[in-house]
Amino acid sequence: MLISGRGSNLQALIDAFGPQVPGSPVRIVLVLSNRADARGLERAARAGLRTAVIDHKSFSTRDDFDSAMDREIRAAGAEFVALAGFMRLLTARFVTSWQDRMINIHPALLPAFPGLDTHKRALQAGVRFHGATVHFVRHETDIGPIIAQAAVPVLPGDDEQTLAARVLEAEHRLYPFALRLVAEGKVRVEEERVTIAAANFASSAVLNPAGPV
Ligand code: GAR
Repeated sequence: MLISGRGSNLQALIDAFGPQVPGSPVRIVLVLSNRADARGLERAARAGLRTAVIDHKSFSTRDDFDSAMDREIRAAGAEFVALAGFMRLLTARFVTSWQDRMINIHPALLPAFPGLDTHKRALQAGVRFHGATVHFVRHETDIGPIIAQAAVPVLPGDDEQTLAARVLEAEHRLYPFALRLVAEGKVRVEEERVTIAAANFASSAVLNPAGPV
């Protein structure tokens, strides 16, 4: 799991798949941060997980930074990478070497609002629904085959903070939901689109795993 800050999505993943969960389809072997002050590191340590910090500022190129991360990730025995609020752009080389084995959560209904300030831009655009997306990582920022999305309404009177809080709550349900699908081998990428193979899989669960709005 790669983080840069608060780590609330990491916490949702720890709650779903951490060492305390018997029979978990996911084993978290490393929580890696590019910032030593990331609050998520404390969450990981509290859960008894291995942590590491690789400060991007100590590398002169993105390639060197990504190579150092890659070595750390592989040394931990990881087979899969989940970005959980990891706020660095990744090089094509790194992304390609984890092709279809690296996922990200983004706080918008992609392909709408890639990049930063998604909640502010959603309010400015006047959309009626906003939300979050879990997708496989490709070289372009916040683009890649979509695994699952959670929609939340934009309510009259919302500001950036209230909307962000509603989306974040949905993220915390969405990310474990999506990672479980992948870990259980139910997700296939074909021609840059994801198909989900699951018995009795209700399409409404994909549209809104966060529950009715
Ligand atoms: C989350 O809202 C996540 O979707 C977003 O950063 C936040 C991290 O919060 N990620 C991105 O914007 C990536 N493009 P957290 O550290 O509490 O999980």
